[in-house]
Amino acid sequence: PLVSTGEIVGAARARGRGCGAFNAIQLEHITAIIAGATAAKTDVIVQLSQNAVRYHGALAPVGEAALAAAREADIGVAVHLDHAESPDLVREAVKLGFSSVMFDASTLDYADNVAATREIAEYCHVAGVWVEAELGEVGGKDGVHAPGARTDPGEAAEFVAATGVDALAVAVGSSHAMLTRDAALDVELIARLRDSVPVPLVLHGSSGVPDDGLAAAVHAGMTKINIATQLNKVFTAAAAGDWRAHPDRVDPRRYLGAGREAVTAEVQRLLTVLERSC
Ligand code: G3H
Ligand code: ZN
Repeated sequence: PLVSTGEIVGAARARGRGCGAFNAIQLEHITAIIAGATAAKTDVIVQLSQNAVRYHGALAPVGEAALAAAREADIGVAVHLDHAESPDLVREAVKLGFSSVMFDASTLDYADNVAATREIAEYCHVAGVWVEAELGEVGGKDGVHAPGARTDPGEAAEFVAATGVDALAVAVGSSHAMLTRDAALDVELIARLRDSVPVPLVLHGSSGVPDDGLAAAVHAGMTKINIATQLNKVFTAAAAGDWRAHPDRVDPRRYLGAGREAVTAEVQRLLTVLERSC
């Protein structure tokens, strides 16, 4: 069934575990993420980024597909709008019935980030929608990796109090869209943020973090683990491998199906990593 993001994140945090939040681009990602989590017997967050919505040209077709797949799942599935910079897109997701949104005003200066995020949080909370925001820019979104960016624990606590958000994405050494899994996280900072910030912490750019690093991050206090690039890597490798092996086939279901199977297996595997963290 479709469940609230707060329920999944809250349950994971109470158990000292991480929950997987996986980015989908198209239907094969959505169904693979749910199949992988079903095999792992774990609830899961399926997320659609503003960039993925832009690729489709609109939120509703892919958003409705994710919501329908969530409702039919045997496990709890939350549907989350990721990295929304557009307030209009947030409002559309809320109206469609999304479980949660991430409003990303992290490129603004502190005061503007607070003002924009607080307004979005108030709107979403009236509708019962869970809100994540970001403070201290996690790099890589524009192709420029900035693993040195760090979120200050004191400012983070102040930001959460001023905005009323339900979770906070923080900069602790990861960077978006890394193709190698060798990012070194600042585990000591994660622990300090966990002690200072009253809401669950979110790790972005998790694809660049090796399995042991993910487990250590969860152990130190990270809860929502966002993974996108790693799924695209395995999807593309499997789809391309299938297509190269059978260049005469024209039915896209062959190579898309191979990609979907690879993503299913990787989601199941990553969810076991988030479970073995303590
Ligand atoms: O919001 C999505 C994540 O931060 C994904 O980052 O593509 O590096 O795994 P990633
Ligand atoms: Zn992100």
